[in-house]
Amino acid sequence: MNKNFYITTPLYYVNAKPHIGSAYTTIVADCLAKYKRKAGFDVFFLTGTDEHGLKIYRSAQKAGIDTQKFVDEVANSFKKIWKQLDIRYDYFIRTTDKKHEDAVRIFFEKLLENGDIYKGKYEGWYCVHDERYFTEKELLDGNLCPECKRPVEWVTEENYFFKLSKYQDRLIKHFEEHPDFVEPEFRKNEILSRLKSEKLEDLSVSRSSFPWGVPMPGDENHVIYVWFDALLNYITALGYGDENDENFKKYWPADVHFIGKEINWFHSVIWPAMLMAADIELPKKIFAHGWLTVNGEKISKSKGNAIDPIAIAKEYSIDALKYYMLRDIKFGKDGDFSHENLVKRINYDLANDLGNLLSRTVQMIIKYFDGKIPEPKAPENEYDKDLREMGQTLFENVDKLIDKYDFTEALETIWRFIRRTNKYIDETEPWILAKKENKERLDRVLYNLAESLRIVAILISPFMENTAKKIFVQLGLKPQDVPNIGFDKAVWGGTVAGTEVRKGAILFPRIDLEKKEEEKNKKKANQKEQVKEIAENVIEFADFEKVELRIAQVIKVEDIEGADKLYKLTLNDGDGERIIAAGIKKFYKKEELSGKKIVIVANLKPRKLRGVLSHGMLLAASNKNGLSILTLDKDIENIIGTRVK
Ligand code: ME8
Ligand code: MG
Repeated sequence: MNKNFYITTPLYYVNAKPHIGSAYTTIVADCLAKYKRKAGFDVFFLTGTDEHGLKIYRSAQKAGIDTQKFVDEVANSFKKIWKQLDIRYDYFIRTTDKKHEDAVRIFFEKLLENGDIYKGKYEGWYCVHDERYFTEKELLDGNLCPECKRPVEWVTEENYFFKLSKYQDRLIKHFEEHPDFVEPEFRKNEILSRLKSEKLEDLSVSRSSFPWGVPMPGDENHVIYVWFDALLNYITALGYGDENDENFKKYWPADVHFIGKEINWFHSVIWPAMLMAADIELPKKIFAHGWLTVNGEKISKSKGNAIDPIAIAKEYSIDALKYYMLRDIKFGKDGDFSHENLVKRINYDLANDLGNLLSRTVQMIIKYFDGKIPEPKAPENEYDKDLREMGQTLFENVDKLIDKYDFTEALETIWRFIRRTNKYIDETEPWILAKKENKERLDRVLYNLAESLRIVAILISPFMENTAKKIFVQLGLKPQDVPNIGFDKAVWGGTVAGTEVRKGAILFPRIDLEKKEEEKNKKKANQKEQVKEIAENVIEFADFEKVELRIAQVIKVEDIEGADKLYKLTLNDGDGERIIAAGIKKFYKKEELSGKKIVIVANLKPRKLRGVLSHGMLLAASNKNGLSILTLDKDIENIIGTRVK
């Protein structure tokens, strides 16, 4: 059997920071990667960022930041968040990586040579947000995009085209010969029925109206279409097109591409056709999951209903968040993200079922055996046997479900065993055995409880690593073993008699939602009080230090349409260009400002003023007699960008 496993997430657009939706795919993929490593696979887990295209180009312009600098910043924020969520990918690809760009050009050239790419003209309705064309028929009333409901733009371009139409029959054949190529099945059926009923049109794969993309080989007036570029990441990350393509040979074809349902067509039709054109094997599976919603609406960067995964993780713990996402939201279906359900899962499954089992077990071993796990000497009775058999087959049963990407049922199977173990305590009544001085029975019962928990800890470790570590500590095992422990250790009988347990903190404290709400309100009120106090009195030095004051030079001064008090200033802040809007028009002429070295607050949250996104503010003093900008008392070399202290 091939013991390699290659799993990918989509490459996220860097027009905004990650939210809980992008975290969802990444968390599930990371759990699967960890799981497969523990099941003995040689895993390659890929994620990264999609950094080209008109959407990103415009976002950077709007922010008034150099495009490369803009994408660098956002890509970093992705990396940072993945780290905070304990995500362990093997490689992080950025489509602006030189290696990727080179490989994209090599692929493109290959298709040019094949004759699968040709020059033509295209006109149509383009949605910048979704980076794709729609037909007139597909649009909503008022020329709105059917996917994201934003206005589309009419675009006429001389473009290069990919002969997608040529692959229609082969695609249908592939779907029919590989019935689980796309999952869930209802999503496969959506795609297959479109493939069978609509004529595929060739795809425009270059753009000439803006420069932000991979330059097209042979015609540098064009950049390669962002989707064509981005999809190739799945092979360029492995070294396709490079001298060193060992990983490509080893891991391709991918075992599974995890994606959201809205980009299924790109992955299930366009991507396979591209691979066919280059004579490369197709991925084994595309799994298109559903959307996280809030009150039924898709969570997205632009809808303002984005939830910050880090805030949730801080409030409830990373493990609780991961458990909730995998257990409560059926992978493949949409699911509403709800604090209430999250808290229910914490209180019932984590605190009650798992947390109580652990604390009861450890307490009894301490009370009856001085903390040392006893040797199971008494012969097995029917309860023991039932528990052992369930524990022995647990991995096997979970594994079958994980193979089907049914995380919900896999976790439920583990929790059935946890509940069964709790019931075992009721059945065997250890406190009565202790009174009867029936030590041998008690030995076996407490051994079995410790052993069940050890197996549970190993099986949940890919999903809830911190919790598994805490259980290990209390069972007297080494927590540092948890990340790399394999499922071959989840075999019944692994607990060594004599191991000393340790009483530890409660695994998951119960959460009282109402009380939490009250506390939050109290805290807010308190903070307000504090702020008031500080404002009335003094501040700490640390508070002052939070404000980043910097010397910047005015490069350009412009009017802002419809604003008679504001100027739009373009500054050099030492790192590059920065736009701010300042209400000084009444006091300064444009030419008075040009070249001036001023003091700005550099880390102020950007604010929109009359349509201009202002990144900071300048310092000035004013009273009823006028306004004066703060400048330098004495000019020194290289002072632009220097911090003011
Ligand atoms: O589409 N629920 O990037 P993107 C669940 N760059 N998953 C969600 C989600 C939600 N509410 N919101 C986002 C792109 N996602 C392209 C992909 S791949 C070669 C190029 C997840 O930033 C989900 O995986 O719009 C979705 O497909 C992806 O983020 C879209 O991220
Ligand atoms: Mg999107």
